[in-house]
Amino acid sequence: MDEKTTEIYKACLKETEIKYGYGDGFFKPRLAGINHLEVGHSKIISNPVTILLEAIFSFYKNLRRRVQKLNALLFPRRHHIYAKVKDSYVTGRLMHLDRAEMNVPIHNAEVELWARTKFTFQWKKLGVTVSDNEGNFEIRYTLREARNFFIRSIQLEIYQPTDVKYNGDRPSTTYRVYHCEKINKSDLIGLGYSVNTIALPLWEYRTDIDLPRAYFPENLRFTPEVYVQGREDALIQQLIPIELTKQKHLFQIKKEPGMLTLEDIQKDYPENLTLAMEKKLPGYTRGDEWFGFRMMNGMNKASFMPDKDKKGIYHVKFFGAGDYEHNNEYAFPDTDIEFEIHKDKTPLPVAITFTGPLNALNKDPFQTRTFTRNDGEDWLAAKRLARVCGAVCAEVDEHYTGTHVNTEQFAIAAFRNFRKNPVTWILFPHLKEVSLINAGADKTIIGGYLPTATALTTKGLVNRCRDILGVHNWKGWQPMEVINETHTYAKAENLFWNLLGDFMDFFFEKYEKDIKTFWNEVYFFSEDLVNHSVPVFLSELHVEKMNASKKERYERLKEYTHFQFGYHPEHSAEIVHGKSVAMSSITKSKTFTRDEDFNNLKDACRYAIMMATFSHTWINEHQYDDLGEILYSCGGLRFGEKESGVIGPESDPHIAPDLTRSTQMLWFTNFLSRTEYGFITRNEENDIHPYFIELLLKHKDEFMELGVDIESIESRTNI
Ligand SMILES: [Fe+2]
Repeated sequence: MDEKTTEIYKACLKETEIKYGYGDGFFKPRLAGINHLEVGHSKIISNPVTILLEAIFSFYKNLRRRVQKLNALLFPRRHHIYAKVKDSYVTGRLMHLDRAEMNVPIHNAEVELWARTKFTFQWKKLGVTVSDNEGNFEIRYTLREARNFFIRSIQLEIYQPTDVKYNGDRPSTTYRVYHCEKINKSDLIGLGYSVNTIALPLWEYRTDIDLPRAYFPENLRFTPEVYVQGREDALIQQLIPIELTKQKHLFQIKKEPGMLTLEDIQKDYPENLTLAMEKKLPGYTRGDEWFGFRMMNGMNKASFMPDKDKKGIYHVKFFGAGDYEHNNEYAFPDTDIEFEIHKDKTPLPVAITFTGPLNALNKDPFQTRTFTRNDGEDWLAAKRLARVCGAVCAEVDEHYTGTHVNTEQFAIAAFRNFRKNPVTWILFPHLKEVSLINAGADKTIIGGYLPTATALTTKGLVNRCRDILGVHNWKGWQPMEVINETHTYAKAENLFWNLLGDFMDFFFEKYEKDIKTFWNEVYFFSEDLVNHSVPVFLSELHVEKMNASKKERYERLKEYTHFQFGYHPEHSAEIVHGKSVAMSSITKSKTFTRDEDFNNLKDACRYAIMMATFSHTWINEHQYDDLGEILYSCGGLRFGEKESGVIGPESDPHIAPDLTRSTQMLWFTNFLSRTEYGFITRNEENDIHPYFIELLLKHKDEFMELGVDIESIESRTNI
């Protein structure tokens, strides 16, 4: 890119930069919350009476919070236990209420025995303990104190860590009562009393899907977690105008579809990067230079694999619908883009080869067609189709699978097992809310928008996710190799990874002793990660029985996905239920024995935080840049009825997305890119380690040079 074009590009980036400034008046329409979002009509509250009722409910919630605070003030929980002789005990066992596995104990959970007095309602702590590796606990207490005439009630409380807070550089964990078991005072007689087994629905795994996903029950009382208020507010403030635009379009499509065009829809949404560029440099965004630049440094951040024979030639591959369940409306062929990359120059596409159907007439999955720069209009169409296939792969493989679901598998394992170990302080803030947003995406994206706007069905999407997760492992992962000076994405990714490494070194050195003391939590964390990991990609297929074309395709798939996701099959050494699984074990011991395991834990934490922060933010925030212009790129080009199929001009409305899909696409890309909340350096919840923030801010200018505003990197995957 020459100097003048670079200047224009920077100006367009600035013009289309996402800002957080929507005013929120009292009687302005508001959303009922993230869980009420729909690809159709999201639940919007616009009736003044309903808004007033909502306000009253919100007032009631605030009042209830205040009453609880007053309660705590009047009836404080004094944690000192005065009794000297503890002559009795309460025993029990804590277990996970997992549907599939009924014998998973809850370890290291704090269990407290409390009494409440008659007349004055004061709290008195009788005893405290922690459950062991088998979930067993025994609280020693003084029987006479419990049976005292002035004691009104007795209860057993089980605590679960919920939040992390920093006071300067001193972290602390907030524990809340997760379960309360009332005990009859009259039952406390003699030496001991048993509450038997208490089975708790605590961060359960879903059993209806072959993916490591958190179970969300219908009864919201036992939802594993909830969004922080700021996250809900950010969504409401940013999304309302966009939601109203989508609803207006859907209404028009229903009533008078002939009165609405793709152009009208486009104009109603905020201008994106490609449209801004087109205004200043007409035709540039359809040119070769921009194509190579965005493939390398845009939302796709594609992986350029060196050609085995030709020096300076690289391949970017997007694998299409293949054997996954798909519809016959949209084209999704395998795509191989050959690039030439000269020293310190933007990659330029030389040829694009598609394998698979490009029209509605010939459905041979192994037909191939190659387009080159000499193909005039067809070359433009080929680049457009390549962009579209790349966008689907970026969204499904890199964004949804690589960051959302990948992070969730670490989140569930962490929230189930870490209670006392200091890694709680670095994992929880970066892993929270991902299971919530993924549960929402099940309905709106995987089961809603994508099956209607891309070639893949919901079943196809879920199976693809399971496969691609099979090339994700913390062990051996490294950031992308920097190809040349123009590869700013890879440079930024490496810089962030290195700083994250510095932070991990600092933290693990500082808390080494306690990390090793509470090593049993690391063991259970590792066991959950491995035991719920998906099988290694393609390990369940009998490739040797396939025909030559299929076999050759799967070999290519394997080679490229390993390269793309930094996966090293030699590290996937665990076998679960007879299947080789992707995740490596961190440790095999409940007590600390090997230095290698300590480094494993450090590497696994570093990887999980990288995926939840930098990797997710990159794709999420660039969605509107690269998927914000309907005719430039989208979720799928329709086959249409002509023989030329998807190799047609942008002016052909039969291959472009229809009106409904177009407004939904722009709604989605706006919604996902504009409603981010929770950034590392802004530290809204005061739960990010100050040293991590300091390290990033120290390199702010360096990041900016690479086109990354470090203050926009999210602290967690929650959108
Ligand atoms: Fe996302």
